Amino acid sequence: MAELLQTMVRDRAGDVALTDERTTRTWAELDRSVDRWIGVLRGAGLDVGDRVAFVLGNRHETFEALLACVHAGLVAVPVNWHLTAPEIAHILTDCGARAVLTEAAYAPTVRDAVARTPDGPDLLMSVDGGDGCTPVDDLPVGPPVAALSGGVLLYTSGTSGRPKGVVNPLLKVGAPIDRVAATTEALGGGLGIPTQGQALLVGPWYHSAQLFFAQFPLLRGCGLVLRRGFDPVEVLRVIDEEKITISHLVPTQFVRLLRVDAATRAAFSGASLARIWHGGGPCPPETKRAMIEWWGPVFVEYYAATEAGIVTLADSHTWLARPGTVGRPAPPTEVVVVDDEGRPLPAGREGRVAVRRPPGRGFHYHNAPEQTEQAHVAPDTFTVGDLGHLDADGYLFLTGRSAELIVTGGVNVYPAEVEAVLSTHPAVQDSVVIGVPDEEFGEQVRAVVQLDPAWPAQGVEQALDAHCRTSLAGFKVPRSYEVVDRIPREPTGKLPRGALRDRYRPAAVSPGLLADPASYLTGVPHDEFARRRRDAPVAWVEEVELTRTDQDRSVRSRGRGFWAVTRHSAVSEVSRDPATFSSAAGGAFLADPRTPEDLHRNRQLLINMDAPEHAWVRRLVAGAFTPRAVGRLGELVTRHAEEVVARAVAARDIDVVADLAAELPLLVLTDLLGVPREDRRLLFDWSNNLVGFDDPRYGGGSVQRYRDTFAAAFSYVRELAAQRRAAPTDDLLSLLVHAEADGRGLTDAQLCQLWLLLVIAGNETTRHLISNGVQALLEHPEQRDRLIAEPDLTASAVEELLRFVTPIMQFRRTATRDTVLDGTRIAAGDKVVIYYASANRDPAAFTDPDRLDLARDPNPHLAFGIGPHFCLGAHLARLEMAAFLTAIRPHLARLRLTGPVRRMRTNFMNAVTAMPARFDVAPEGE
Ligand code: HEM
Repeated sequence: MAELLQTMVRDRAGDVALTDERTTRTWAELDRSVDRWIGVLRGAGLDVGDRVAFVLGNRHETFEALLACVHAGLVAVPVNWHLTAPEIAHILTDCGARAVLTEAAYAPTVRDAVARTPDGPDLLMSVDGGDGCTPVDDLPVGPPVAALSGGVLLYTSGTSGRPKGVVNPLLKVGAPIDRVAATTEALGGGLGIPTQGQALLVGPWYHSAQLFFAQFPLLRGCGLVLRRGFDPVEVLRVIDEEKITISHLVPTQFVRLLRVDAATRAAFSGASLARIWHGGGPCPPETKRAMIEWWGPVFVEYYAATEAGIVTLADSHTWLARPGTVGRPAPPTEVVVVDDEGRPLPAGREGRVAVRRPPGRGFHYHNAPEQTEQAHVAPDTFTVGDLGHLDADGYLFLTGRSAELIVTGGVNVYPAEVEAVLSTHPAVQDSVVIGVPDEEFGEQVRAVVQLDPAWPAQGVEQALDAHCRTSLAGFKVPRSYEVVDRIPREPTGKLPRGALRDRYRPAAVSPGLLADPASYLTGVPHDEFARRRRDAPVAWVEEVELTRTDQDRSVRSRGRGFWAVTRHSAVSEVSRDPATFSSAAGGAFLADPRTPEDLHRNRQLLINMDAPEHAWVRRLVAGAFTPRAVGRLGELVTRHAEEVVARAVAARDIDVVADLAAELPLLVLTDLLGVPREDRRLLFDWSNNLVGFDDPRYGGGSVQRYRDTFAAAFSYVRELAAQRRAAPTDDLLSLLVHAEADGRGLTDAQLCQLWLLLVIAGNETTRHLISNGVQALLEHPEQRDRLIAEPDLTASAVEELLRFVTPIMQFRRTATRDTVLDGTRIAAGDKVVIYYASANRDPAAFTDPDRLDLARDPNPHLAFGIGPHFCLGAHLARLEMAAFLTAIRPHLARLRLTGPVRRMRTNFMNAVTAMPARFDVAPEGE
């Protein structure tokens, strides 16, 4: 006798309790059937606490056997039937399954899995045959046993990749059976699970929410109608014919239902429906509105996780009143939103969503204490990594899943698990798996892979697909691949998953991408710029929180956000209107000065000045940068370029950045600035530390290192300036210390700042032009060959490479008054960032802007800016690049990249930090 069914057997024994495509069971029949299963399972020697793995579809036997486990003190372990043999074997081993229950369709895989399980289960049973399985009907029925509470052990992968069992205290194995009845009663009341009506299950029952919303209604007295899979037309028919009252669906199923032809939809009544629970991934608001319009306000959205159970619920009225909410937790469950350190955040602030339960009501991972600990942010408070915020009334809004998790069609895919499989293929040197938007499934699995250089890219997708299918269930296998030069791991080995994922989001939902220095580790986000130019040419960008260290203290700061200006016309307009868009008000750099003193100090720098001071300083230095003045350097620059290239060619195996791109501007600068040549390493390090402030390999976010760099550079230039005052030479520093306009010269602070600006502007920019330029040429061999064949192309090639790679991606301005730009209202005081990198790919200004065309003419690029701050060093930079191209031309055909190109973590420059390459040996006679 199945105790938990007795009320129904007593009151309505002949009513239908369980229906699938083939069988119908009344409550009396279900009771007998469960009883028989108890006898079979215990008769097979299974004892209280033993685990029984279920690799079984949505069918009546599944629920009969599940109820038997609940009554017989056994632990049911639901296994996703899409899993491959190695995946199933892992679960069997981890849970120590003593028996496996399956069906003919999955029997071969399950047999294989059992064979791979050392000390594997003694018993492999099937409900409908299958080689190597014992038919359940052949098993003897043991004597009756006392009913004791069983349980369910659900497996979830977590971020670490391999599935882990989640142990929660909902059902206490071995406890008196009354306890299950009490739990069912309490839960059912709290969650609004009715005691009669018809429940429909059309999703895979092994999923925690599907199981929950099928098994508990059944235990409370609802009939349960099962379908093996989801067919939208069939679902509509079953709801009306079986008078379904409750069900659980996922957003992907809504999308498919909404796509059913109009006639079928119109014929659907849905009058019986009382409640549809949904969760399993964010539901697009328009989809949900369309469902509410069609089926009425029957939808109850929940927030849940296998680890947490149901945490919040929001009915349709709540959702319509607060669109997007998933509801409020019911006491004693609490939701707290915490920052990365686990500290609670106030209402309105986004962070990780954590669940707090009374002691003893939490969860732990079976066999994985470390992961259990990692999930806990405080005692009895844990998070599964979802992101969100609470409003002032305690309603939870989810803003994203953790960067790791992919939710496709309501099913979780854990990238680490897929990456682990990809890494075992010889073609793959590194990989990162992310979710990208998919209209039907919400997200789809995409693998970004870095190939072993020796592996041909052709056909690799098919090879990887076949490889993944051998050990991963189909839903986890990547639907698309992207081959990249390098996976931009941070030095710690961490992946900027969020930044990669954001690349695929529409502009409106990638608010932080342009601000995040990590976004640029994979290169300039041209797709994002294209979307913005098209859909949101001037749009708000949220700044991301950045960690700085100041005197051993870690300080988190987040800028207040800015307007990203992306069209060519608007970037010009802003640059040419310093009265409205000031360089002095907040400085020309994206990051805000930390203190008013910092702002004041920054304003000593030419680039952070407005008229009239700007014009005055500019006049003092401009003489050194006129075409005539720079022309005088021509011979010197050519000689440096030839020497640098000759040394690199002789070395054969080189780093394009260190050996070619960095050397030339440093040598030129030392001559220009009057710095002894052997000190050029100092200039290199200073500018790396300042431009690479956000890159752990350079500035490391260390405010102290930033200050030390300034102090070192300033004390260096002060000493040098004293020498030049005493004994002038023909270098720029001599000019600067003696220069006067309107009867006054530069202050000490202005001199130091200007000199350091020239150091940075003069070497970083040209370096990145050369290294990115080399990469662009090597990636466009037909353009490279043109350059080799047509020396006259050099001047236009310099301009095109400047446009194509745009070494400085952006500068910043601050609005001085309310204004309108590209139709967008900008308020006085707002930060405005002008993206040269985007302007230079604007189709409104350039034909076929993504094509590298060394002969392009006209080429109105904005790589040097425009307006009063137009680059002072433009002539010099052009001269250097032309000299470089001329010197490298004879060797260019033999140069090829040999390893991954590494980029700097900065949102300011298009900066390359390493580019391994080789000059192949010249053929005989060359
Ligand atoms: C490919 C190389 C270069 C690029 C792409 C580049 C780009 C730029 C840009 C976009 C600006 C405009 C700033 C603004 O509007 O706020 C600028 C300003 C400036 N650049 Fe360059 N630059 C390069 C090379 C150089 C060199 C070689 C020097 C000097 C040795 C230099 C010195 C300056 C100075 C002093 C300013 C400030 C001008 C002012 O505020 O009036 N640049 N540069």
